[in-house]
Amino acid sequence: MKVDGSAYRTVWLAGDGWSVEVIDQTRLPHAFAVARLTDLAGAAAAIRTMVVRGAPLIGATAAYGMALAMRVAPDDGALREAGRVLFATRPTAVNLRWALERMTARLTPLAPAARAEAAYAEAAAIADEDVAICRAIGEHGCTLIEGMAAGRTPARPINILTHCNAGWLATVDWGTALAPVYLAFDRGLPVHVWVDETRPRNQGASLTAWELGRHGVPHTVIADNVGGHLMQHGKVDLCLVGTDRTTATGDVCNKIGTYLKALAAFDNDVPFYVAAPSPSIDWRLRDGVREIPIEERCGRELSEITGRTGDGGLATVTVTPAGSPVGNYAFDVTPARLVTGLITERGVSAATAEGLAALFPEGR
Ligand code: MRU
Repeated sequence: MKVDGSAYRTVWLAGDGWSVEVIDQTRLPHAFAVARLTDLAGAAAAIRTMVVRGAPLIGATAAYGMALAMRVAPDDGALREAGRVLFATRPTAVNLRWALERMTARLTPLAPAARAEAAYAEAAAIADEDVAICRAIGEHGCTLIEGMAAGRTPARPINILTHCNAGWLATVDWGTALAPVYLAFDRGLPVHVWVDETRPRNQGASLTAWELGRHGVPHTVIADNVGGHLMQHGKVDLCLVGTDRTTATGDVCNKIGTYLKALAAFDNDVPFYVAAPSPSIDWRLRDGVREIPIEERCGRELSEITGRTGDGGLATVTVTPAGSPVGNYAFDVTPARLVTGLITERGVSAATAEGLAALFPEGR
């Protein structure tokens, strides 16, 4: 996507041919900054501290982290250690494990001297494939939106509610849930996005709103609790969210609060679609609520909030009473029965084991 006229991906090989650059998402929306990753520790820290975040981007960055590790130490022990360090960064998005397993399977049979070059090539392939997957999800999702728009007066836009950030910043490019929105907008369909702020990290308010605004897509930021009210009043035509891990049976784990939106959508007959790239499907799991590890993060993400002050600086303030304990659960699971459909790169699937297996027979 373009930022101030220049095309950007979210992770790329730097001009020196070996270090890796990423958009520092902790600085958005107040500053657009690029961070340089030069070693395994730097790549792991970038994922852990959410300089990069979003399931597909976590996977791609981890793959480049393996390449950075192989550059300095390509022996079997270092390969195992790189996998261990990167795997420990974040527990919920399965794209991390998927990318590390793919890198390990590619590199292990090679002689150590050949591993660095192969690792960079495999990381680049993962990044390129993510772009193609997201673009395909965009096409399938756009067809859905086109179907909804057919026969409506142009004056009434399709209102899409999204949660967290599942746009291009969460992937290598295009996004998952927002890819259909970008394509629909580019093709002249009237779309408007309700953007959940997504406390506590505010990925909606700070990242989704920023992306949509840069692209010119009409949108409105709302507090996390507003969606149910809007649905009761017919102001949401479609919920469209991403996923950090989808079970083989169609349960969807996504940013905390997604489940409540799905419940409200179910109660109000609003279609609830999940943009689900195949690397975020965990074919080993069948019961998302019981089996998916839910990340718990530092309580300060909830008890403090950072924003821009009137004089243009940044300030962090505390919003809870001193001493009040804080629970910061980062994800929840939406059971498959609440999901209208999964928009994958191979088409839209029912959120069922049969539906997914029909599209991805190799997944079993
Ligand atoms: O904690 P984050 O910001 O990594 O969480 C991201 C999300 O929950 C996204 O919605 C999800 O990764 C799907 S993104 C394409």
